[in-house]
Amino acid sequence: KKVSIIGVPMDLGQTRRGVDMGPSAMRYAGVIQRLESLGYEVDDRGDVEIGRPGKLDVKNEKNLKDLDEVVKANESLGNAVSKVVEEGNFPLVLGGDHSIAIGSLAGVANKYENLGVIWYDAHGDLNTGDTSPSGNIHGMPLAVCLGIGDSSLTQIGGYAPKIKSENIVIVGARSLDEGEKELIREKGIKVFTMHEIDRLGMTNVMEEAIAHVTKKTDGVHLSLDLDALDPHDAPGVGTPVIGGTTYREAHLAMEMLAERDIITSTEFVEVNPILDNKNQTAEAAVGLIGSLFGEKLL
Ligand code: ARG
Ligand code: MN
Ligand code: MN
Ligand code: MN
Repeated sequence: KKVSIIGVPMDLGQTRRGVDMGPSAMRYAGVIQRLESLGYEVDDRGDVEIGRPGKLDVKNEKNLKDLDEVVKANESLGNAVSKVVEEGNFPLVLGGDHSIAIGSLAGVANKYENLGVIWYDAHGDLNTGDTSPSGNIHGMPLAVCLGIGDSSLTQIGGYAPKIKSENIVIVGARSLDEGEKELIREKGIKVFTMHEIDRLGMTNVMEEAIAHVTKKTDGVHLSLDLDALDPHDAPGVGTPVIGGTTYREAHLAMEMLAERDIITSTEFVEVNPILDNKNQTAEAAVGLIGSLFGEKLL
């Protein structure tokens, strides 16, 4: 199977500069060689173009920072991802901040009757302009994909919603805003917080997560935010939260997904080399990508 890589040097979904270098950092950490060594044919399609607003971090009247550039980039990303899927290749999207999930899912979701999503993240990313404490669009993509939020975002790709709430599972959550908690309750979204991971262990959590996300679906997108990992193991992220999953737990989760062979598209986001410790976070990401694609020691 052929893996097509699309880089998205996007940093406008939040305000910490440097996450636009995430795709370079993961390429430098050897993502292509890693996949080739596993026997995949890899086709690196380069980076999606990101516009530069004249003035950064400007909230509009809807509490959405740098909205126009985020919309434009996600439209292009959606088209690029859609092409990859049509060609029968596996899309591997490298971010960039998590606002790019809007484009990835725009490109993938209309190719499936019922797309499942695993949202591996410290956060829910379920805010809208109305509930967001920051106005940062990287805190909103999951809500957007449910069709909730400003139509300039929900209509990216020309259709909404991208996914149904029953086909989503969030794993690793430990920071949720009030509005996000309300939405989770209202929509009945399945969430495995750090509490469940501590209590049940990652093996059981992933068994249940996989069962949930494959129940009614014909494809599963993995959206992996590196801040799901503990900052000790992934320091190069813009919104670190202590008490996360370890490097080992994250690997186990990826290995279980590889064993079950359910993932049909993925993105790895929020790697910020400026905040990192000698590219440790990009290296962790590439290690996790290896496991997701079936790497084993023996
Ligand atoms: N909940 C916070 C916000 O909406 C943080 C979001 C962090 N999201 C992320 N993809 N790292 O601003
Ligand atoms: Mn996060
Ligand atoms: Mn996120
Ligand atoms: Mn360590």
